[in-house]
Amino acid sequence: MLFFMFGMTSCKKQVEVPSKRDVKEAVEDEYDKPFDLDSKDIAEDGSEAEWVFVSKDGTLIVTVTWSADDPDEFDFDKEDIGTDVVEPVPTIEPDPSVEPDPSINTQTNGFKIGVSMPTKDLQRWNQDGDSIKSQLEALGYEVDLQYAANDVATQVSQVENMINSGCDVLIIAAIESSSLGEALEDAEALNIPVIAYDRLILESDTVDYYVTFDNYMVGQLQGEYIESALGLDYGAGPYNIEITTGDPGDNNALFFYQGAMDVLNPYIDDGQLVVVSGQTEFNEVATASWKTENAQDRAEDIINLYYSDGTQIDAWLCSNDSTALGVENALAANYLGSYPVITGQDCDILNVQNIINDKQAMSVFKDTRTLANQVSIMADQICSGDYVEVNDTVTFNNGVKTIPTYACLPVFVDKTNYVQVLIDSGYYTQADLGI
Ligand code: BGC
Repeated sequence: MLFFMFGMTSCKKQVEVPSKRDVKEAVEDEYDKPFDLDSKDIAEDGSEAEWVFVSKDGTLIVTVTWSADDPDEFDFDKEDIGTDVVEPVPTIEPDPSVEPDPSINTQTNGFKIGVSMPTKDLQRWNQDGDSIKSQLEALGYEVDLQYAANDVATQVSQVENMINSGCDVLIIAAIESSSLGEALEDAEALNIPVIAYDRLILESDTVDYYVTFDNYMVGQLQGEYIESALGLDYGAGPYNIEITTGDPGDNNALFFYQGAMDVLNPYIDDGQLVVVSGQTEFNEVATASWKTENAQDRAEDIINLYYSDGTQIDAWLCSNDSTALGVENALAANYLGSYPVITGQDCDILNVQNIINDKQAMSVFKDTRTLANQVSIMADQICSGDYVEVNDTVTFNNGVKTIPTYACLPVFVDKTNYVQVLIDSGYYTQADLGI
């Protein structure tokens, strides 16, 4: 029986199950050759674990066992399954006329990353998921990408499956900021690092990193756009305004709302802006699940009740593009006045088309390529045992602790700059936008 002294990599709990990277390193040190992980079995309470590795030359199978009773030691059990004399594999010479595709990486590095996205309903999450998957696969990672149809129970069960199937890092865009409790406890017990993606996971000490755009600034950009489009800072008004924000379970929604309202509230207070419906509180203006249909239903009610006599709507603060689309649909169906200044976020294709056609004034652009690239770098740094790059260690507190964060800056897009920001940067082609 062979033993290996093992140095723990984290101090979240007194005894943690060693990470796959550490076990792999231990096996490779012990037998002085490279190995691939074949299977892994971890007791539910994290008290025992067993990994089976196969050497890359096909000569050895090594079973590694570990127990929390003796956490600094591994027990190796080796089985010879071949000789070192490996039959030469006939090689096929590459066809020199075929250029290799550098984006396709056929080598895997033995690590698996779980990526949990909230829904396929919105264009952005599909782009986020696809970008993260392709960037991590290009680095050699196996990726388990799941979408949870905006259903919290589905997301919890998908994350639990990722944990049980041996994911080494979890990247999670939570449907509800505080509802992943038990799944995260399992991740913590098994020492699986968690990166909160775009939406901060609240009230949990299991979150290790956060990568996001500055959400308060998203709201500020929307509020400032309305301020300057209506000339409020020059004393213009009174103008009529309505407000539509996002899902109350999404922590971001509150930041978008707050960022915008901090700009607009002084104008509401001094009468330059009038909220004709009187609905200004976060819970009154929220949109369940960020759904276009829900935003549309509420907008239709407001238009029927307060604007059917021809009263002009001058601005409609919408926190994102799916809710802006709902408001735009309601206006198209029931409203005869000129289009208000409507804000949005995400630069979804339908909304950019509406910007081009003067049915939406602006959207906030959060380049999903940037966020996906950053989270892929962070996951890779975690698996490689490198320093994890963050740029903010003070701002983002989840109610339990301050989460080391990489925060990116959003920009606004309107009719004057969409070509430069969206097309020249390669985010969309003209054909994507139908122009
Ligand atoms: C994201 C937005 C998105 C919204 C609805 C928010 O958490 O930050 O980009 O539009 O969720 O999915």
